[in-house]
Amino acid sequence: MPRPPQTSAATSSLSDRVYGALLDEAKRRPPPVHLLNVGDTYLEPLPAARAEAQRTADHPRLHNYAAVQGEPALLDAIIARTERVHGVALDRQNVQVMPGATGGFTVVATALLEPGDEVVLLSPFWPLIRGIVASRSARAVELPFYTRLGESSFDPDAALEAVITPRTVAVYVNTPNNPTGRVLDDAVVGAIARVVERHNLWLWCDEAYEELWYGSARPAALWARADLRERAVACHTLSKSHALAGARVGFTHGPASAMPAIRGAQTFLTYCAPRPLQIGAARALAEGDAWVESTRQLYIAASRQAAAALGVEPPAGGTFLFFDARRFFRDGEDIHGFLRRCLDAGVLLTPGAASGADYESWARLCFTAVPPDQLADALERLRRALAVA
Ligand SMILES: Cc1ncc(COP(=O)(O)O)c(C=O)c1O
Repeated sequence: MPRPPQTSAATSSLSDRVYGALLDEAKRRPPPVHLLNVGDTYLEPLPAARAEAQRTADHPRLHNYAAVQGEPALLDAIIARTERVHGVALDRQNVQVMPGATGGFTVVATALLEPGDEVVLLSPFWPLIRGIVASRSARAVELPFYTRLGESSFDPDAALEAVITPRTVAVYVNTPNNPTGRVLDDAVVGAIARVVERHNLWLWCDEAYEELWYGSARPAALWARADLRERAVACHTLSKSHALAGARVGFTHGPASAMPAIRGAQTFLTYCAPRPLQIGAARALAEGDAWVESTRQLYIAASRQAAAALGVEPPAGGTFLFFDARRFFRDGEDIHGFLRRCLDAGVLLTPGAASGADYESWARLCFTAVPPDQLADALERLRRALAVA
């Protein structure tokens, strides 16, 4: 019972240190220290989408509450874009604007989980999703997945079957994936679809990197499959696609069976996303296609440059390289020693354990966090420190 000084058991595993303990030390060091740990961007968003472009003179009551469902102009832009990009006409009632995808998944977890329920997290995963599940007193079941896709013996259907229990209520999927950059192909998506149908589970689709795909064609969205529409709840965000992470704007959609509960939970969690930035987000979605495309090209170049410097495969999407650092360890070194050595060289990376218990020896590097000249300097420092040929 959390009487003072106790806090709730559900929050015991939650901390703002989720991305690693070296950040304070990195900030105390003399420059240059390249912060390639957090997934963000050096780019400024489309001018029309920026905070300073939204004016009270143009939008009376700009700083009032927005409607819980979202600003009408943003709902229009979401529906138009979804039709344009995916050929799917969303029912307006089933769209909910959220304070980013973190807000979206927090609301989804509130609406769809009971204490003790289990959510299968395909791992490695976005670090916050594990804490979001834990904050509902539910259990995150980690299934090593994206890093095993190339193995001939890996059977996605069997791997999922092995972790599903009577308490499982949902499977969380993120493609393109943070941190591996993997994009799930049709065969793997088909296996996931069969399993969630067989066990009548919700499918939580994390669309954070939907615009950041680096192959020859846009990957098909899981939630858009006809066989998944009644069980797929998708959380989108403008944080990555439109460089609007600080704006805290995203949106969630799903079937009519889920959305009233999701809208109800959102009403009591944060009520609405920031109205001025919803108006900016509407402009980003309506007018930002060329901006997104040029950003994608810049990120493709950065991803290849980073992969070549570390001698790893370029990712198929997203903003990260994720690699097993054991091949760089010196005698007696572990991941902490390795990360400290990178920091000594002037580059902060994220420990892989933030993305799953099976990734203790891995590390994550964000190649979009700093401009190209700083990325080149960071990569050169890593190459020297790690003695990459
Ligand atoms: C896969 C994934 N999902 C969700 C989020 C959260 O996005 P937002 O900024 O919209 O909360 C992130 C942010 O890093 C992410 O990488």
